[in-house]
Amino acid sequence: MTLLNGLASTYGRTGGSGEALAIRGGRPLRGRVDVKGAKNLVTKAMVAALLGESPSILHDVPDISDVSVVRSLLEVHGVRVTTNDEDGTFVLDPADVASAHMEEIDAHAGASRIPILFCGPLLHQLGQAFIPDLGGCRIGDRPIDFHLDALRKFGAVVEKLPSGIRLSAPNGLRGANIHLPYPSVGATEQVLLTAVRAAGVTELRNAAIEPEIMDLIAVLQKMGAIISYEPNRVILIEGVDRLAGYEHRAIFDRNEAASWASAALATDGEIFVAGARQQEMLTFLNVVRKVGGDFDIREDGILFRRGGPLRPVTVETDVHPGFMTDWQQPLIVALTQAGGRSIVHETVYENRFGFTQALVKMGADIVVHPHGLQEGPRRVPRRNLEQAAVINGPTPLTGAEITVPDLRGGYSHVIAALTATGESVVHNVGIISRGYEKLFDKLNALGADFDVLG
Ligand code: UD1
Repeated sequence: MTLLNGLASTYGRTGGSGEALAIRGGRPLRGRVDVKGAKNLVTKAMVAALLGESPSILHDVPDISDVSVVRSLLEVHGVRVTTNDEDGTFVLDPADVASAHMEEIDAHAGASRIPILFCGPLLHQLGQAFIPDLGGCRIGDRPIDFHLDALRKFGAVVEKLPSGIRLSAPNGLRGANIHLPYPSVGATEQVLLTAVRAAGVTELRNAAIEPEIMDLIAVLQKMGAIISYEPNRVILIEGVDRLAGYEHRAIFDRNEAASWASAALATDGEIFVAGARQQEMLTFLNVVRKVGGDFDIREDGILFRRGGPLRPVTVETDVHPGFMTDWQQPLIVALTQAGGRSIVHETVYENRFGFTQALVKMGADIVVHPHGLQEGPRRVPRRNLEQAAVINGPTPLTGAEITVPDLRGGYSHVIAALTATGESVVHNVGIISRGYEKLFDKLNALGADFDVLG
């Protein structure tokens, strides 16, 4: 294994998206990886620090580029961010929060979707907000209509400009009754981050209840918020006048944990995912068991390996507590090695199977049905939106030259290349640093054979 560059990164300076890897696959990944705080909580908790009157301390922050984007956007708004790179502790001091210059905000356009969550906190702190054009993974349209509709209900005035969105709250923000058309994670967080300091009570119906959202609620409660949840996806928020800073250790990244678990299954290896916990992964672990995987739950993490030949499964992605959409891409790599016909129904995003083209190029037998399959009873006909991938296995994979399309798809490409015999060149791997900390270090620790091509 040779590493030409890209091994070390400190917060804000992960490799560029143009990097490529030459991977020689066909050998099992074995060893230990440590997962830190969840990307899907940490970035939101960082935004929450804007709402406090004193500094917040967040532990277990991973070194990923989505964190860098949020950090930088906080800094242009006057939040002082100091970090301890060793243990991933961030101190976020909002004492000097101020409006940022348009050009400084614009520099963050297209980098991530998380800036949309600055709306409520900035409106509370400054009475106005400007949000750049959003980015994130190209996995469907990923609109923000639920966010904007909710903000309008709180009393915000929304103005769409070519370069972004300008918001103001001439009469302050007031609690609202909001019913989300779909339990969107981001829109639920938008409502939470806005309602905690809006005047009066907010009732949110059809809310998302992902573990990362429960952890954000815990953060906000530490700050002084009053939030309760009831059965059937109802969250009640009683607005308060002031919030203080918090100290919090982020929930572990269950998406990263599931990714390494699938890598162990795909390569017939054995990976101990330190920091992973059973409780938040019950649904995933059930699928691991059904597919013929084996896991050993320990005090400090979970060990994943095959328990015998892999078996086919049918899974359907869904909002929590269902099988998460971010888990299907790495799992599909493992399913190419399972004997028989697997089906993955994607019900959360419009377009999240693009990554399978590269797997087919490597020899996988995967057919994507853009309008879904009518086969079998549907557990959650929640949306009028469905794609299905049918995977026939096992198929040997052979190395190929492929290009990473998005975060989870990109990780899956790397795992497919590690499963394949021969050499692959995987372009654009920098995208993976949006959500996977120190990927090259971890692959190295697991015995992967690769070079970073720059
Ligand atoms: C978050 C996660 C992502 C995960 C997803 C679903 C972060 C940073 N990302 O993304 O990893 O895959 O939840 O668990 O936490 N939608 C609308 N209008 C809106 C908002 C969403 O139609 O205003 C649609 C989206 O297009 C998508 C679905 O709702 O089809 C789910 O999106 P959402 O739950 O909001 O995902 P994110 O918060 O963007």
